[in-house]
Amino acid sequence: MQPELTLQWITEAENPELYAGMLDVRYETLRKPLGMPRSLARNDLDPLHSYHLVCFDSSLPERPVLGCVSLHTVDHVRFPGAGKLYQMAVRADQQKLGVGRKLVIRLLEFAKDQLHLPRVYCHARHYASGFYERCGFCKTPEVAPFEEVGMKHFCMHTDLCLSMN
Ligand SMILES: CC(C)(COP(=O)(O)OP(=O)(O)OC[C@H]1O[C@@H](n2cnc3c(N)ncnc32)[C@H](O)[C@@H]1OP(=O)(O)O)[C@@H](O)C(=O)NCCC(=O)NCCS
Repeated sequence: MQPELTLQWITEAENPELYAGMLDVRYETLRKPLGMPRSLARNDLDPLHSYHLVCFDSSLPERPVLGCVSLHTVDHVRFPGAGKLYQMAVRADQQKLGVGRKLVIRLLEFAKDQLHLPRVYCHARHYASGFYERCGFCKTPEVAPFEEVGMKHFCMHTDLCLSMN
């Protein structure tokens, strides 16, 4: 049966099961492959002015989380007023089916229409930069590639007034 994809903004207090599902997807896709512990599925940014979006299958009673992404909204010293997209993850058996793009599009609409952010940026693992490009991001020319969690990353961004009008 085809999954019924539902996107929802969640908080840990109001949606504890979906929040736990989000942490599972983060762990399985972002942390476990690097040999990092489950405790690191939580991110330091999570409780600090962040929004969490999940995609789950609403055709199943247990509502399994298939993908997730978060948005941090505190000013970055380099990009005043910009939001940071982080912890982008789609369950391995659901990748390349459009779930990631749906999450990014919804996050950018929210950042633009509700938060009036001019720019969203992210730290993209080198192998995922093509995905972000397909979602309208470009490599930020003034930021050199850098190492995070032991691998090459690119700073990438999208200017919302330009990309979404
Ligand atoms: C990267 C990731 C989030 C992409 O999600 P997804 O649901 O598989 O992506 P989608 O199916 O929505 O793909 C959207 C487009 O990007 C392309 N794409 C997806 N992953 C890609 C990749 N790694 N490199 C290049 N292009 C990619 C798709 O082919 C599709 O292209 P199209 O516009 O021609 O149709 C997912 O593969 C993932 O969770 N990976 C493991 C965790 C991770 O690395 N997260 C990113 C950390 S920075």
